[in-house]
Amino acid sequence: MFDPTQLSLAYLGSGSVLLALGLALYAVLVGALGAARHDARLQTSARYAAVGIFFAMTAAVVVMQTALLTDDFSVKYVAEHSISTSPTWVKVATMWAALEGSILLWAWFAAGYTALLALVAPNDALRPWALVVMNAVNVFFISVNGLVANPFIALATPPLEGPGPNPLLQNHWMMAVHPILIYLGYVGLTVPFAYAMSALITKRPGSEWMTQTRTWTLVGWGFLGLGKVAGGWWSYEVLGWGGYWAWDPVENVSILPWLTATAFIHSVQVQERRRMLKAWNLLLIILTFALTILGTFIIRAGVISSVHAFGDGPVGPYFLGFFLLVSAVSFGLLALRWDQVRDRADLDSVVSREGSFLLGNVLFLAMTFAVLLGTLFPLLVEAVTGEKVTVGAPFFNQVSFPLWLGILALMGIGPLLPWRKAEEQSLRRNLAWMLGGALVAGALAYLFGVRKFYPLMTVALCAYNLVSLGLLLSGALVPRLRLSSQGPLRVFVQYATESRRRFGSMIVHFGVVVIALGIAGSGGYRVDQQLRVTLGESVPFQGYELRAIDRFMEQTPGRISAGAVVEVWRDGRFVATLRPRVNVFGGGDTQPVPTPDVLYTAWHDVYLNVAGPVRPDQDFIVLRAVQSPLIAWIWIGTAILAFGTAYTLLPAPRRQKRRVTAAA
Ligand code: HEM
Repeated sequence: MFDPTQLSLAYLGSGSVLLALGLALYAVLVGALGAARHDARLQTSARYAAVGIFFAMTAAVVVMQTALLTDDFSVKYVAEHSISTSPTWVKVATMWAALEGSILLWAWFAAGYTALLALVAPNDALRPWALVVMNAVNVFFISVNGLVANPFIALATPPLEGPGPNPLLQNHWMMAVHPILIYLGYVGLTVPFAYAMSALITKRPGSEWMTQTRTWTLVGWGFLGLGKVAGGWWSYEVLGWGGYWAWDPVENVSILPWLTATAFIHSVQVQERRRMLKAWNLLLIILTFALTILGTFIIRAGVISSVHAFGDGPVGPYFLGFFLLVSAVSFGLLALRWDQVRDRADLDSVVSREGSFLLGNVLFLAMTFAVLLGTLFPLLVEAVTGEKVTVGAPFFNQVSFPLWLGILALMGIGPLLPWRKAEEQSLRRNLAWMLGGALVAGALAYLFGVRKFYPLMTVALCAYNLVSLGLLLSGALVPRLRLSSQGPLRVFVQYATESRRRFGSMIVHFGVVVIALGIAGSGGYRVDQQLRVTLGESVPFQGYELRAIDRFMEQTPGRISAGAVVEVWRDGRFVATLRPRVNVFGGGDTQPVPTPDVLYTAWHDVYLNVAGPVRPDQDFIVLRAVQSPLIAWIWIGTAILAFGTAYTLLPAPRRQKRRVTAAA
C-alpha cells in the first residue's frame, strides 16, 4: 500500500530546494533593484534573503544526509546510489557520489559563500552588485537541483536495498575529501568573479575589487589545488596502475581554472602596484569562472568517457547554456567598459617584476590553451566527422613540459626583480649564483644517473629556485641584521612575522619546487613490473626482496576482499608488511576494485597491486609492483604549498598595521 508518511523526507528536501530557489530569485531581483536605486533597505533585504538561501539549502542537505544515514530508499537518489551495509562515512559521502547529490553539494557551498559574503564583506559600492551576481549563480545551481537533477524524487514503491555508490568511490577515504575541496575551490573563485562583474557594472575597474577579494581568491585557488592533488592521490591509491595523473579529460578540465587562477593571483599584483593590466585581470577571472562551468558541462553532459565522468545526466544543455550566457554577459560588459579598462601605460622594461608576471601569465595561458585544445579536439572531430580519435598523454606531455620548465625558470627570477626596471649589475650577479646552483645540481644529478632531459632540467631548475629563495631571504635579512642588535634567529622570526605576504609566497614557491622534484622523479624514473611470487619465497624488486607470506579472504558486511600478505625486506632487514587486495562491494555482483598497498619512503615507494586471481588452490600470487621515485614529495610539497598559502593570508601583525596607518 502507498503510505504518504514514507515520502516525507523527499517532500521536505524538495520543499527546501524550492524555498531556496524562491529566496534566490527574490535576492537577485530585490538586490538588483536596491543596487540600481542605491536603496539600502532593499539591499539589506537581499542580504537577509542570501542568508535564508543558505539555511534552506542546509535543510536540504540535512534531509539528504538523514535519508542516506537511515537508508530511506523511498528517496530515489538513496535507492539508486546507497546501500544499507556501507560504513557511515561512505553513506555521508554518497551525497556527492552521483550527479544530483554533487550538484546539491555545489549549490550548498555556493549558498554558504554567498551568505558569508553577505554577512562579512565590507559595506562598499561593490558589495550590492557582487551579491546580485552570487545570487544569480545560486539561482542557476539551485534550479538545476530543483528542475533537472532533483535528488529528492519520491518513490512510491521503494526497493528494500540499493546497489551502493560506484565501487571505485567507496574504496578510499579520499573520496570523502576530494570533491569537497574541488567544489570549495570552484565556489571560492566565484567570489572574485562576482566582484569583477560588480566593478564593471558600477564602472569601478580599479584595483578595489581585487584587494577586496584577495582572501577569497587565494582560499578558492588553494582549495582547488588541494583538491587536484587529493584527486591524484586517490587515483594513485585506488586505480591500481601506480600513477596519479593520466591526462584524463576530467583531470584536464579541472586543472584549467586552476591554471588561469594561478596566472590571476600573480597579475593582480601588477594592477595593485602599477595600475596596469586592468582588462587582462578582468579577462582572467572571467575565463576562470567560465572554465569551471565549461568543465562541469564536459564532465556532466556525457560527452566524454572517463573513470571520473558522471555521464549521461540531463544537465548538459543547462550547463552549456549557462556557460554561453556567462561568457556573453561578462565579455559583453568588458567590451562595453573597454575605454575605462584598457591600459594607457606601457611596460618600462620586460626585465622587471611586472615583465616576469606577464611572461608567466603567457606561459600559464599557453598551457591552459594546449590542455583545452587536447581535451576538446576529440569531441570536435567526433562531432564533425563521427570518427573517434584520442589525444593521449604524449601530446600533453610534449606541450606542457617545456612550458612547465619555463614557469619554473620565471618563478626563480621573478621575485628577485624590482618593479619597473631591473638594475643590470644585480640581475647579472643573481643570475650567476642561480645558474651556478643549477649547473652544480645538474652535474651532480647527471653523475648519480639522472640522464633524461626533463628530469635533469627540473633538478637544475629546482636548485636554481632554491638559490633564488636563498638570495631573497638573505636580501631581506642581511640589512636587518646589520641594523639590529638581535641574533639571526630573532631577526628571521621578526621578518617572517612582519612580511607575511612575502615570506608566505617564498614558502609557496618552495612547495612548488618540492612538488616539481616529486613529479620529475616519479614521472621520469617509474618502474613497473609484473611479478609471480610463490608462497613462502621471495623475488627481488628494485633493491628490495618481496616475500609472499600468505593469501587471505575477508568478508565484512558489504565487502569481500581477497589479497596477499607480502613482506618487504631490504639488505636482510624486515621493512614492512603490505596487504594488496581486490575488493568487491555490495552483494558481490559489482566490479572488483583493485586496492594496492603502498610503502612510502623519502626516496621512493613500493607499490603492490594484485594482478591476477587469488585462489585458495594456487601456491603463487601475481603482483604488479611499481616504484615511483620521490613520489611522496608531491604530497609533502602540496602540504608546504597549502601552509604557505595560509601563511600569506594571516592578518598583518598589529605593529605593522599601526605603521601602515601612520604612513597613510
Ligand atoms: C607570489 C612570482 C609561479 C604561487 C608571488 C610573488 C612573485 C611571484 C613575485 C610575490 C612575492 C612578493 O609578495 O614579494 C612568480 C613567477 C612565477 C610564479 C614569476 C612563474 C611564472 C608560481 C606558481 C605558484 C605560485 C607555479 C603555485 C603553484 C604564488 C602564491 C603567491 C605568489 C600563492 C602569493 C600571492 C599573494 O600573496 O597574493 N609569485 N610565481 N607562483 N606566488 Fe608565484
